[in-house]
Amino acid sequence: MLNNKVSRRQAAKLIGATAAGAFLPVGLWAAGPSRILRAIPATGEKLPVIGLGSALTFDVRSGSAAAKVVAEMIALFVQQGGKLIDTSPAYGNAESVIGDLAYKAGLTKSLFLATKVWTRDKLQGLAQMEKSLQRFRTRTIDLIQVHNLSDVDRQMTSLNDWKAKGRIRYTGLTHSERKGHGEMERAIRVHKPDFIQINYSLMDRAAAQRILPLAREMRIAVLINRPFGGGGIFQILAGKKVPAWAAEFDCHTWAQFLLKWIVSHPAVTCVIPATNDPKHLADNMSAGVGRLPDPKTRERMAALFVGF
Ligand SMILES: NC(=O)c1ccc[n+]([C@@H]2O[C@H](COP(=O)([O-])OP(=O)(O)OC[C@H]3O[C@@H](n4cnc5c(N)ncnc54)[C@H](OP(=O)(O)O)[C@@H]3O)[C@@H](O)[C@H]2O)c1
Repeated sequence: MLNNKVSRRQAAKLIGATAAGAFLPVGLWAAGPSRILRAIPATGEKLPVIGLGSALTFDVRSGSAAAKVVAEMIALFVQQGGKLIDTSPAYGNAESVIGDLAYKAGLTKSLFLATKVWTRDKLQGLAQMEKSLQRFRTRTIDLIQVHNLSDVDRQMTSLNDWKAKGRIRYTGLTHSERKGHGEMERAIRVHKPDFIQINYSLMDRAAAQRILPLAREMRIAVLINRPFGGGGIFQILAGKKVPAWAAEFDCHTWAQFLLKWIVSHPAVTCVIPATNDPKHLADNMSAGVGRLPDPKTRERMAALFVGF
């Protein structure tokens, strides 16, 4: 799944087939706004800094109207240069729907598909990973992560074995709450995964204390989950204006403000906001182009969020 190129004909088909085409001019896509990329330390392979989450948002019934929106979202994501989609067998129907829709649109190879293993049993874990391969209709999955560090020591032996056999390209570990950071630190040191995925946002900066510096020191790629704290932050920010100085780093909305703050941390490889609104997706993707805040500006940004 290394190829991020979508042919012009394929793109035109996608744009024509989606409502997304209504607000993204083909010219803009064809010119390709230059995306900010980050290298995966283990290999040097580059990923765009804005990815896509799928918990709740993509848990829809196959063939439903909601699934059509998901198809539109995946097409728009690829059309705007997106690559990494994060999912899990724990997200209801999301993994199946993503695998199915990406395959039908001919986009599986344009994506970097990240899923998880989530069980406390070796054989069940292996069966779950086989199912993920079937759902993605592929022979190799880009990344499988141990979801919430569940049964991490046993599941990592399976992931390392699958990586050695070429059935996955990268191994990973995830958690999304502060209470998991101590165990994440231990697991990073013991298992040396290719990726970790952790919660980090302007509302929750704890990962910057130990996890992000450790990942940087050990040359581990970092995915960031819950960048909007699950979304509630937008109610708090409603009616508040984005500061005018944010334009200095090409930021015009609160979503871009929150995302640019995250991806300007030097340890971060890619952030995975979730949405099922095409306009929000386009907004989030805009955080992956243009300038990023420098360290001093990051502090200024953080000062606005004290007490959140
Ligand atoms: N343990 C784990 O491994 C773990 C745990 C948590 C999350 N994750 C991963 O991380 C992903 C992201 O975390 P999350 O889903 O908890 O929450 P999130 O990305 O922090 O927030 C999602 C919410 O933000 C809203 N939103 C998105 N873009 C917006 C925009 N531009 N403007 C206004 N509202 C916007 C969405 O509503 P709309 O749909 O209306 O846009 C949605 O309700 C998950 O989907 C999952 O893939 C992993």
